[in-house]
Amino acid sequence: MSTEPIYYDPYDYRIDADPHPIWARMRDEAPVYYNDRFDFYALSRFSDVYAASVDHEVFSSAEGTVLELIGSPIEPPPMIFMDPPRHTAFRKMVASVFTPRRMALLEERIHELCRGYLDPFREASTFDYVADFGARLPVMVISSLLGIPREDQDMVRAWTDAVLHRNEGETGMSSAALAAFGSVHAYFQAQIDERRTRPRDDLMSDLIASELPEGTGPRRLTDAELHVFFNLISSAGNETVARLLGWTALTLAQWPAQRARLVENPNLIPGAVEELLRWEAPSPIQARVLTRNVELHGTTISQGAKVALLTGSAGRDPREFADPDRFDATREISRHVSFGYGIHFCLGASLARIEARTAIAETLERFPEWDVDESAIEMVHTSTVRGPARVPLIL
Ligand code: HEM
Repeated sequence: MSTEPIYYDPYDYRIDADPHPIWARMRDEAPVYYNDRFDFYALSRFSDVYAASVDHEVFSSAEGTVLELIGSPIEPPPMIFMDPPRHTAFRKMVASVFTPRRMALLEERIHELCRGYLDPFREASTFDYVADFGARLPVMVISSLLGIPREDQDMVRAWTDAVLHRNEGETGMSSAALAAFGSVHAYFQAQIDERRTRPRDDLMSDLIASELPEGTGPRRLTDAELHVFFNLISSAGNETVARLLGWTALTLAQWPAQRARLVENPNLIPGAVEELLRWEAPSPIQARVLTRNVELHGTTISQGAKVALLTGSAGRDPREFADPDRFDATREISRHVSFGYGIHFCLGASLARIEARTAIAETLERFPEWDVDESAIEMVHTSTVRGPARVPLIL
């Protein structure tokens, strides 16, 4: 057992590269961990993360769920940074357009996109599973979900990439990024305008037509609110799925016997997706603010304190999962918290599952084996999303 004092924060690249050893110590030795440098508490055991996720009255999302954004004067995105009753109204409205029918309609398109991205590498000796595939797929899927015409989807994806691109050393947006942001905004405004007069069979039209059951009576969303919603859906659905696919390529290379089982029996793939989510949660930290004092494991956490729910650690808790540091594609998983839990449970979970299952099936069909050049892996460093941005495959 280590005698070093426990130190954890999500901003330290060295810790973030492999937080599992420190999370294991936190679960055993400091289940209510306090970081005095950044002034937050962290819960790392499955049962505590689960209970806090369900107890939304005490563990509030209203001040934000991104640790470093809590208390900062930003315009809060709807739903995810809300408590009931506002959350209930928004969730009801959005859930009514995220129907199983809409998700199922996308399945064939997802197959087609996977084929289009993966086929050109059939004869290749290497490609980057995230940059060339995993990060592209979800952006195109969200575009299809919203109803962006196919011929425009690549252009919108290129703008989205340009908005996020930072040259080395840059922290703010470059003039190219600002210009791309302007292009995306103008493009979406034109799409909204068109659908206000001529609705189509797509999620954008459904959202424009749906009513928010809030305040003095149901009302339609304004253009500004629609833009914020499209941003929310894109930001929640792109980076997370890209990271999940990055972890998939890396993990299956590290556990080749498990991969071989999936090649042999593709019916195991849906279960393997749940195991991958447990193994490395793409969104491993959800922050909350306490609305009253909480007593936990002999520690009092005061009202107003910031609390990080470490869903990434919960997935490796031996109190919940037998032999948790073994990746087992056939593990029976009755529940995990990698999509959150309770009222904020991921609204895109079913879509994310379809994307991951399809991507894995289409990958294994073409590439039953690969190695990864682990020296060339690059990680994404944010406090909300964790995973590889580059996974060069050796075929
Ligand atoms: C592997 C992929 C994904 C992971 C790991 C993931 C993870 C999560 C988690 C942990 C939460 C709960 C946040 C909290 O409790 O504060 C959440 C919420 C949410 N997710 Fe996902 N997500 C994924 C994909 C998607 C996709 C594809 C979409 C949209 C198409 C999406 C849309 C949302 C939305 C809108 C919420 C907010 C729900 C609410 O506050 O009621 N997610 N997601």
